[in-house]
Amino acid sequence: MAKRPRLPAGHNTLDQILFDQGFGERRVCEGLVLNGLVQVNGEVVDDPDAVFPEDRLSLSVDGMPWVTHVKALIMLHKPAGYECSLKPGAWPGVHNLLPVPLRRRGLQPVGRLDQDTTGLLLLTDDGPLLHKLTSPKHHVPKVYEVTCKHPVTSVMCEKLRKGVVLDDDPAPVHADAAEPVGEGETCHLRLTLLQGKYHQVKRMVAAVSNRVEGLHRSQIGRLTLPDDLAPGQWRWIEDPAIVLP
Ligand code: URA
Repeated sequence: MAKRPRLPAGHNTLDQILFDQGFGERRVCEGLVLNGLVQVNGEVVDDPDAVFPEDRLSLSVDGMPWVTHVKALIMLHKPAGYECSLKPGAWPGVHNLLPVPLRRRGLQPVGRLDQDTTGLLLLTDDGPLLHKLTSPKHHVPKVYEVTCKHPVTSVMCEKLRKGVVLDDDPAPVHADAAEPVGEGETCHLRLTLLQGKYHQVKRMVAAVSNRVEGLHRSQIGRLTLPDDLAPGQWRWIEDPAIVLP
């Protein structure tokens, strides 16, 4: 077999780029190109061996606009009624909200939100980044908007900031920030956590004799859930630095 010429760094053939982006098996990607279904920067390219830069290449694939990302990091506005698990049980998985190429790439959720929690969820196929974002050594602050059953008092907030003991660990966990939101008596609490323990918000709020009735994550690191990202919608994050400590 003839040896393929060496490709410049960061470049690849169009069929391989499509494959890596999740557009299907190599043969399928080759077929898409040969059938004139792929545009690069607005022009049809029908040679699967044509060489292009792999990252931030502007494609249209069978009518779907797509900007390539060698490593995917996305934000999803998670609606209620979806599970973060890769093998969901009672509820559909968040992966069902993503387009097919991203589903094929096997993106992993960065930490998990409960089925009934809404808000900002990150997903990535970048292993080292996933490790950084989930490692307890890296303290990435996460902000939760909590609707409680009972009014939120300043005593409760102080206890949450000082630390409460949960049932699985004698070491207290504390909120980086905890404050009531709104004028006068309010059931809305804003909580900032640096850790991501199982059901942490619900268990911390229960530890101060209140109860979570609604939970929404509004911020991770310096990234706030954009107002124009509706529940169920997703968007690329172009620079991971925004979600790193
Ligand atoms: N803490 C919880 O209790 N649930 C979530 O979904 C996230 C944080």
